[in-house]
Parts: sequence; structure tokens; C-alpha cells
Amino acid sequence: MKLVNKKIKDYTQIFHLFTEEEWTRTSKNFNKNISAFFTGKKNEVFINVQDQGIAYFIGLGKADLQPFEIQQAAIKFAQTYKGKLLAVPTLVVGDFMIEKQFEEFVKGLLLGTYTYPFESTHAFWNAKFELHFENLSQKKLDFISLKAQAISNGQIACQEWLNKPANLKKPDTLSLYLKNLSKKYNLKYTVFNRKKCEELGLGAYLSVNQGSAYDAAFTILEYKTTVKNAKTFGLVGKCVVFDTGGISLKNPDNMHYMKSDMGGATAVLGTLIYASEMNLPVNIIAVLPITDNAISENAFLPSDVITAYNGKTIEVLNTDAEGRMILADGLSYLVRNYKTDILIDVATLTGSSVRMFGDTCGAMFSNNDELKNLLIKTGDKTNQRLWNLPLWDIWKDDIRSDVADLKNISMKPIGDCIVAAKFLEQFIENHPKWAHLDIAGVAFGNVGYAKEKAATGFGVQLLADLIENYH
Ligand code: BES
Ligand code: MG
Ligand code: ZN
Repeated sequence: MKLVNKKIKDYTQIFHLFTEEEWTRTSKNFNKNISAFFTGKKNEVFINVQDQGIAYFIGLGKADLQPFEIQQAAIKFAQTYKGKLLAVPTLVVGDFMIEKQFEEFVKGLLLGTYTYPFESTHAFWNAKFELHFENLSQKKLDFISLKAQAISNGQIACQEWLNKPANLKKPDTLSLYLKNLSKKYNLKYTVFNRKKCEELGLGAYLSVNQGSAYDAAFTILEYKTTVKNAKTFGLVGKCVVFDTGGISLKNPDNMHYMKSDMGGATAVLGTLIYASEMNLPVNIIAVLPITDNAISENAFLPSDVITAYNGKTIEVLNTDAEGRMILADGLSYLVRNYKTDILIDVATLTGSSVRMFGDTCGAMFSNNDELKNLLIKTGDKTNQRLWNLPLWDIWKDDIRSDVADLKNISMKPIGDCIVAAKFLEQFIENHPKWAHLDIAGVAFGNVGYAKEKAATGFGVQLLADLIENYH
């Protein structure tokens, strides 16, 4: 795709963008019959075959729409018509559109080409696909083009890995991908195998991994800027490539969805791709504790007491509460070994958060009001919403154990997403700016590109926006 600020005369494709108001104002310039089919409502598309070429009239909805709604409309448009659209110079007409709106439109076109398995052979990814838009300077268009491709590459990588079936994303396959990705983007790549994890004392992570047929892969990816005094973000992404529940085996009815239990990690992965392609003036230390949660003769058992990286002991009462185990070590390893300004962990952590919010928002927990408010604001802006839940100390009582410092579940049938967050708080080593995002209900769900539930890409645009605009 290329963005060009010249108006072209001989186009074969034209995208006419309208809000309802804009259509009312300008419809008189068009064949009056069109109004019988087109009003400018969101997701309305009218196709008019004209002498010059094919005109797509694309409805965006009310004039006061938010930028993300333009992205949504563009995604829908691309998903519906992607088989028909041509890789040719295309004129875009939408005089009312400001820079941010056009940016969202372009992002939506690219994101809307995604289906599993992804093929970047679609017309929109072809250099011959030129979008001609004369309202913005070439400099601004170049920046929009860079940004739209960076966010699409990040989110598509996120969706692609989440959508892969379990047999195509064993820990070693994922590790190989991350290693190559690090080469491509010049990230520092570190991986600790089982032996190294034992030496380091990453006991909580290892307790989950010990039942796996695959070696441990406690992974650290570092993106560094040369800009001085840049902020450093610590990101921990839950990376359970498949969660059977372990010995506390899950019910099989919905078990196949547990290929999505790496949704935290893929959100972090997408963010790293975005930061790298945009060359953002920040540092990111990403910790991805990779494992499956398998059943085997070596699997950890309910009643096991294990020692975490920070020395705290944990009584395992349910092996299906494995995410908080691996995140515990991910968090304390990151805090003890790196200096970070902001610490965020992202995880498909609890069914409890799904029962609470469904697919409407992620559950957020934070010990810092500034970070909390910024995350809520960024979530609203990117339409990857978060809602804040409490971390009151009364919840700590529920995870006190008789035989260890902590137990990994409360045994009460209430508030498990809060209990899990309270558990994680015991491993942040007093970091002053931490947020935990439980995205179990939003990472995988109903999408426009698949019949069944699939990856939504939740978290990439949220974290990318947060990091890019953090001061
Ligand atoms: N990966 C699951 C959480 C989950 C549930 C993600 C639904 C996506 C959709 C997590 O590891 C888990 O199994 N949690 C248990 C904890 C329980 C045993 C305390 C749960 O929520 O049922
Ligand atoms: Mg589990
Ligand atoms: Zn899990």
C-alpha cells in the first residue's frame, strides 16, 4: 500500500467516505437515485459502477463519531469487499476527514484483510495499491502509512499466533519465531531453559513447566532506544500455549479455546513489533514465560508447596490456576533485574473476569491512580476498554495458607479475578506503578473474519497507544 497526496483523474476505483451529515449536505451532487440506497449510516456500502471506474460509497455514521469507529467501518468494509477490491491507484474522497480519521481508515483497511491463516498477498498489501488523498501533505501521509502498517503488522502477528491450533504452536516453534523476530527487529533475545531456570530459582514458573514434554523457555525480549532519559516499560505476558488445566483437568467442552491462553503474550508481541517499526523513543523489557499446562507423570500436583523466584512459598491447590504461578516469577524476575518506570502484566487469567465483564472490557487492577486513569482513557480511545477493580487488603486473607506464605486459589467461589490480582501483587516487589490486565474475556471472541470465536487482537492498540503517548 502507498499513500499519495495527488488527485488522479483516471482512477478505476474510488472510495467516497460519508458521515450521515456529510451525505445530507452533498448528496445533491450525485445521482439522486443513490439516496434510495445510501444514507451514510455506519457500515453502509453502496457500489456504483461508473464510466471511470467502480465507486464505493462508504457510510461512517454520525458526524461526531470517534476515530476508532472509522477503523471499525473500514475493517468491516475490507472484510466484506476484500475479494473484489483491486490493487490499483484508488481515489479517496472525504473532505471532512482530519488526519487522525484518515489514519484510522487506513488502519482499518489493512486490519480488515486479516483471516487465518494470514496471507500478505492481499491487494491492499501490494505496492500497486495506491490511496490518493489530497487533503493531507505527503509528509503526513508517509507517517500515516508507516503507522498503519506498524499497527497492522503488530496486531496481525498477535491474532495469527493466537489463532494457531495447539499443534502448530508448541513452545519450541514459538521460541524459534521469537528468535527470528528478534533478529529482524534488533531486539535483545534471552531464553532460559529448564536447567537455567532451576539455577535462577524460577520455581513458580517451573512448577507449571515441569509437566511439559517441552523444555522451559522463560523468554526476555528487549527493545532499546538510543534516546536518552527515555521511559522504560516492563511488560509481562502470560504465555501458556495450551492450558489443559493440568491434573486439575478442565472440562473438555470448551477446552479447545485454551489455545488462546497466550493472549497476554501475543498482545505484548504485537506491541513490540509496533514499537520497533515506529522506532519509538522508549525502552521495553518484555518477559514471556512460555509453557503449556499439561498432564503428565511429572505434572505438579494439588498440595505441592513450591518456592517462587522471590523466595515466597506457594501452596498449589489447583493446577488450573497456573497463569498466576508463571506471572508471579515473570513479575518478580523483571522487577529484581531491571529498572522500569511502568510495570504492566497482561493475561488471559480468569474465568471470573469473563463472567464479570463478558467481552465488553478487560478487568484492570493497579496500585497507581495515574496509570489506572491513563489506561482507562487509552482503552476508551482505542475501543479496547478496561474497567478498574479493587485490590483491597481484605482479599489477601483469602490467599493465606497454613503450610506456605500463599495459596494459589482462595477456595471460595467468589471474585477469583480479584484474588488472582491480589496474588500477583505479592510478586511486584513494591513497584510503585503496576497494572494487571485480565483479558480472558476479550482476547478471543466473536470477530468479523471467522465463523467461530477467534483472536480479536485485544491489547495491541491499547498498549501501543499507551506507550507511544506516555510522558
Ligand atoms: N486460562 C484460564 C482462564 C481463562 C478462562 C481464560 C476462560 C480464557 C477463558 C486460567 O488458567 C484458569 O484456568 N483459571 C481458572 C482458575 C481457577 C481454577 C481458580 C478459572 O478461571 O477457572
Ligand atoms: Mg488454567
Ligand atoms: Zn490459563
